[in-house]
Parts: sequence; structure tokens; C-alpha cells
Amino acid sequence: MIKKFALTALAALALTSGGAYAAGGGEQHIEDFAFSFEGPFGTFDQNQLQRGLKVYTEVCSACHGLKYLTFRNLGDEGGPHYSDDEVRAYASGFEVFDPELDDTRPATPADHFPPSNLENAPDLTLMAKARAGFHGPYGLGINQIVKGMGGPEYIASILTGYTGKEKEQAGTTFYENTAFPGGWIAMAPPLDDGLVEFDDGHSNSLHHMAEDVSAFLMWTAEPKMMARKQAGFTGVLFLAIFACLMYLTNKRLWAPVKKKAKEA
Ligand code: HEC
Repeated sequence: MIKKFALTALAALALTSGGAYAAGGGEQHIEDFAFSFEGPFGTFDQNQLQRGLKVYTEVCSACHGLKYLTFRNLGDEGGPHYSDDEVRAYASGFEVFDPELDDTRPATPADHFPPSNLENAPDLTLMAKARAGFHGPYGLGINQIVKGMGGPEYIASILTGYTGKEKEQAGTTFYENTAFPGGWIAMAPPLDDGLVEFDDGHSNSLHHMAEDVSAFLMWTAEPKMMARKQAGFTGVLFLAIFACLMYLTNKRLWAPVKKKAKEA
């Protein structure tokens, strides 16, 4: 009976893993970037978020939107943390459609970022939480416990994962990419060494720009991450102290009973 069960389980495992590989096509390679916000005490790096916003603005926004983010968020503490004036100046560089005017006007801090310009380019606001970079083995999620979900790593790996090969299919050009499931993506390589200049003099190699824009997209997907971690830490601290107090209270409460038991 046990043997039969074990065999069935093995067969099921073999089938599911085989299926996952068949669907995945080529071997997917996700690089494990070291981000400042990893781990229970990790925080966003304000300068990195500002650089990432610059990469998004100058490159990605040509096709991708950030429609769930408002310009005002750019002033949030724990985020890029721009001043009110900076946010206003930045927002005014975007045109939004105002149904009341029935026309476009410059954006204000209260407006949302525009949606994607290009129909088949997905909105990027939540992308870092919508994709998992690390799986397996066999979909058990063990990698994810150790390394995290890998959303930002997935994005950075896509940006750095082009092999240079392309192919035409049904009128669309596909570019070979070692991180994209299936191995071929319809997005032309958006970044190149030195494409964006940073005011803080930080390296603008392809690798660094990919890392910065991915960190920025992690922030757009979870702008309250730092508050969440802090609340979690406070909660754990509270529980630890509470547990000590309960232990001592328990001892105190039962002390007379124990004493009596000893005397008897
Ligand atoms: C010229 C237009 C264009 C630009 C510029 C561009 N993208 Fe894309 N991007 C696309 C298209 C189109 C797709 C869909 C590709 C597909 O599904 O094969 C895409 C897909 C993606 C995906 C994969 C989403 C998925 O489904 O897993 C990510 C991540 C991404 N883009 C990030 C970026 C970032 C970050 C930048 C800026 C550095 C950028 N893109 C710049 C057009 C663009």
C-alpha cells in the first residue's frame, strides 16, 4: 500500500515538473541581485530610487505606464522623498487628459502617472510583485524562502539578459532573452551602457541602471514596505516582551499551589 502511494506521488511529481519545464521552454536564468531592501531590516535606498525614476522617465515611460502611482507619492518618506516643489516640477513635465476640460493639461501632484503608451507594453506599477524570479525546485518554493520572490531580480535580469539574437515571427520582432519565460521577448533591449546620466555621479553601466530601475519598480509596487517591516518588528518585539511577562505571571499565580504541593 505504502509502496503504491509512493509510486503515485513520484509519478505526480515527475509529471508536474515535466509540465513546468515544457511550458517554460528555454532554461530561465535569473540573477540574484543584492538589493538594499532585502531581509527583515532592509530599506529602500533613496538615491537609488531617484536614479531609477530617472531611468524610467527617460527610457521606459516611452512605452510603459505607471498608472497606479500618483506623482504625489514621489514625495513620500521612505521613497524617492522629493520636496513638494520638485514633485510639482516633475509632474508638470507630463501631459494628462482632463475630462472636465475635454483636453490635455500638464499634470499636478494629485494626478496619476499616465498609462502605457504602447498597447502591448504592460503597466509597470505592480510588475515587481506580479512576477516571481525564483521558483522550484519543482515549484516547492524553497528558493523563495531563501532568496525572496525575486520580482525585482526578474526585471533586472530581463534588462540585462539579452543575447543579441533576434527573429521575425508573424510581423513582430522577438529578441532572445535568457530571463524571459520562453526565451524570446517582444521588447527591444531598452538600456545600453551610459544611456542615462546620473547627477550623483553613480555608475551608469547597463548593470547598474537595470538594478536602479528595478529597485524603483519594487518601490512602486510596495511603497509602504518600510512601514510594514517596522510594524512587523514592533509586533515581534511586543510579543517577546509580552511572552516574558506572561511567563512570570504564570509562575507567580501558581506559586502558592506549588508550595502547598511541596509541603504536602
Ligand atoms: C519601445 C518600447 C519599450 C520600452 C522603451 C521599454 N519596454 Fe518593456 N516592454 C515592451 C513590450 C512591448 C513588452 C512586452 C514584451 C512581450 O510580452 O514579449 C515589454 C515587456 C517588459 C517586461 C516584461 C513583463 C513580463 O510580462 O514579464 C518588463 C519587466 C519590462 N518591459 C520592463 C521595462 C523597463 C524597466 C524599461 C525601461 C528600462 C522598459 N521595459 C522599456 C516595450 C518597451
